[in-house]
Amino acid sequence: MTKKIILDLDTGVDDALALAYALASEELELIGVTGTYGNVLVETGVRNTLAILELFGASDVPVFAGPDHASTKDGFEVLPISEFIHGKNGVGEAELPEPSASVQDKSAVDFLVESVAKYGDDLVIVPTGPSTTIAAAIEADEDFARNAHIVMMGGALTVPGNVSPVAEANVNQDPEATNTVFQRAQDVTMIGLDVTLQTLLTYEETKLWRELGTAGGRFLADATDYYIKSYETNSPHLGGCGLHDPLAVGVAVDPSLVTTLGINLKVETEGPTRGRVIGDETRLNDANKTAQVAVGVDVERFLKEFMERLTRLAREH
Ligand code: BDR
Ligand code: CA
Repeated sequence: MTKKIILDLDTGVDDALALAYALASEELELIGVTGTYGNVLVETGVRNTLAILELFGASDVPVFAGPDHASTKDGFEVLPISEFIHGKNGVGEAELPEPSASVQDKSAVDFLVESVAKYGDDLVIVPTGPSTTIAAAIEADEDFARNAHIVMMGGALTVPGNVSPVAEANVNQDPEATNTVFQRAQDVTMIGLDVTLQTLLTYEETKLWRELGTAGGRFLADATDYYIKSYETNSPHLGGCGLHDPLAVGVAVDPSLVTTLGINLKVETEGPTRGRVIGDETRLNDANKTAQVAVGVDVERFLKEFMERLTRLAREH
């Protein structure tokens, strides 16, 4: 039986890889993609998503736009660090033809709320950008918070942040929103830097995609090579690029890829530790743990699944 999935992406190189992972997974039925700001503006992310869906023969998947900035801010501009990692166009300056499909009229928030009401336990939501849209869905509908199953990429519990000593990029964009998700959603799996910086890709793998000689293979290789290059500059000790967002999709398919810690979480929103994810001391003794944080990952098995799936998809497109 297939599991229904909605991706909430700020498309983004690793978001693009997450989208490809979902499309390549027979266990999943991608019922829609919601677009957020983050690595890029909402419009750019939505455009990238539509173009990638078309490239991989999935232009029937509807795409919805979410809010274009955090509710605590007046607007949003792409940070220089995001542009450095993902390129101006968000996909490492890899070429993507203009998509023929357009974004839906319905809002991302309405789509999320309606989908949880309709599919309940048969649906998993995988956000891989700032939490603004998911928090808005929680604010819009109490049942969404109660019934949504969320596997999110974001945060860092046992390791430092990647945009500040304490903050991970997605949480950093809208700490209040991620706090809302942790405080109110009843089933959240956090796939943070604790595990995503253990799953690394190198030029050796992207070379295999390029050698396929297909448009899909070329796109994946070009976008990912740009992303690897930014890691060589910013995090040379890692020896590859972090497969953050695809790991969240991998766990949505197969939760046994990670080991988790049950914990009630919060995000600090004040002072120098703004953006830090940590245990919520007020719920320490609450037997009901609303979050599971991935603290271990079967790196070898995930990388094998990742390469098999994406290579199969790219070979056909
Ligand atoms: C996260 O931030 C974004 O740059 C990536 O797409 C990923 O979702 C990693 O911290
Ligand atoms: Ca992302």
